[in-house]
Amino acid sequence: MKIDIITLFPDMALAPLSDSIMKRAQAAGLVEIQAHNLRDWATDKRRTVDDAPCGGGQGMVLMPGPLFAAVEELKTPHSKVILMTPQGTVFQQATARELSEETHLILLCGHYEGVDHRVIEQLVDLELSIGDYVLTNGAIAAAVVTDAIVRLLPGALGDARSSVEESFTDPHLLEAPVYTKPNSFRGHDVPAVLLSGDHKKILEWKSHAAKQRTQENRPDLGEC
Ligand code: ADE
Repeated sequence: MKIDIITLFPDMALAPLSDSIMKRAQAAGLVEIQAHNLRDWATDKRRTVDDAPCGGGQGMVLMPGPLFAAVEELKTPHSKVILMTPQGTVFQQATARELSEETHLILLCGHYEGVDHRVIEQLVDLELSIGDYVLTNGAIAAAVVTDAIVRLLPGALGDARSSVEESFTDPHLLEAPVYTKPNSFRGHDVPAVLLSGDHKKILEWKSHAAKQRTQENRPDLGEC
């Protein structure tokens, strides 16, 4: 898989992808990740990429020219072009799974007041938001989406079970709490059932605890 990130802040996008599992996945050749500076496709001496919004309003809007030129240079017949924007559909694990099947992703990072809408109409296949809050730009969002996709590539996780098991878990339920040693810490004990060796009881406890946690933390997930 190849992932090209087009942003005004390539270092910001790459920093979270330069360590740990993301670093190993790239070193192993599972994915090639490149971040490009949008200003490289500006056509004037000052490397301008934005202008005032037509009809007035706050801030600056990314111009279509540099974004079209960047995508046209990087695009292949199999590319999927994604715009990171708080106006997009909210990124979910199911989307990460679908996108992990693609061969080439081009992630465009918005900035300022957004991007000229002709980019969205003519160039973009999918608009993605990583949540209902506004970041200063899309570079961090692109890194988040990239991480969630790359960890699903076969061989990316050391223990292959981790992502396989996840795909069988109920998307309407959070995971049950987990514990490790010591069995007693500052007067707080690991639930006895988890130390009982009774696998049926342990599964029942996990199912109940997962439902309770979902009700408390994410009642919007429903089906509890
Ligand atoms: N750019 C700014 N905020 C964002 C968000 N929540 N998701 C994706 N891109 C963004």
